[in-house]
Amino acid sequence: MLKNFKLYVEEDYSTMSQRAAEVFANAVKDDPMGAYGFATGSTPIGMYEALIKLQNNGKADLRKITAFNLDEYYPIQPDDPQSYYYFMRQNLFDAISLSPENTHIPNGAALDPIAECKVYDEKIASAGGINMQVLGIGTNGHIGFNEPAENLPATTAYMPLTESTIADNARNFASPDEVPRNSLTMGMHSIMMAKRILFLASGENKAEILQNAFNGPITTMVPASFLQLHHDVTIVVDKAAAKLL
Ligand code: GLP
Repeated sequence: MLKNFKLYVEEDYSTMSQRAAEVFANAVKDDPMGAYGFATGSTPIGMYEALIKLQNNGKADLRKITAFNLDEYYPIQPDDPQSYYYFMRQNLFDAISLSPENTHIPNGAALDPIAECKVYDEKIASAGGINMQVLGIGTNGHIGFNEPAENLPATTAYMPLTESTIADNARNFASPDEVPRNSLTMGMHSIMMAKRILFLASGENKAEILQNAFNGPITTMVPASFLQLHHDVTIVVDKAAAKLL
């Protein structure tokens, strides 16, 4: 494991989520009005619950942050319960009283997805960059929706989903046919420019890809492997995910 990684291996999903929430809340304490990057998927849900509790107990205050999400399906309407916009309002933003003006997610309903990418990059730049970016990982090594490929995008991009991600994410949809085939995702440069990365993974099905990402070669076929080049990565995992590290 590289020295620039701070690794927390916690007993289970619940303690992992609690630890991640504490790391995040400490970052917000240092910069309460900064911009923070959020991720979707099942992994960060426990951390979001723990953050809500910390705020309700007066131990954290996230009400003044600006939020930027990693990605969104395309096409999708924001009020679709499968959209990441809906996910974030349901799982975090409403409960911490973060107003829609302070939350940014690529618009999956934009008529011109390529123009939307540019708009999104400009919003991140005008917020002064991201202080801490929360990341999960796909079983194929994707971060955001930067899927394994010969080339990876630098800035926010309109990207197709791979068959393996469509199959993985189908569990949240009525059928695989309903999973949107494309996405809008922050690119690799946008992610790498975050001052700090808070990386989460849970469960045995992530053990092999974590080993490839953090101990294997840096390759576009495992987009998360580029995190080896970031100077400030905090990895919070449960024992099952850490099995091969
Ligand atoms: C989605 C998201 C990723 C996320 C990944 C893992 O595809 N675009 O940002 O990291 O799923 O999801 P889970 O946490 O459910 O394993």
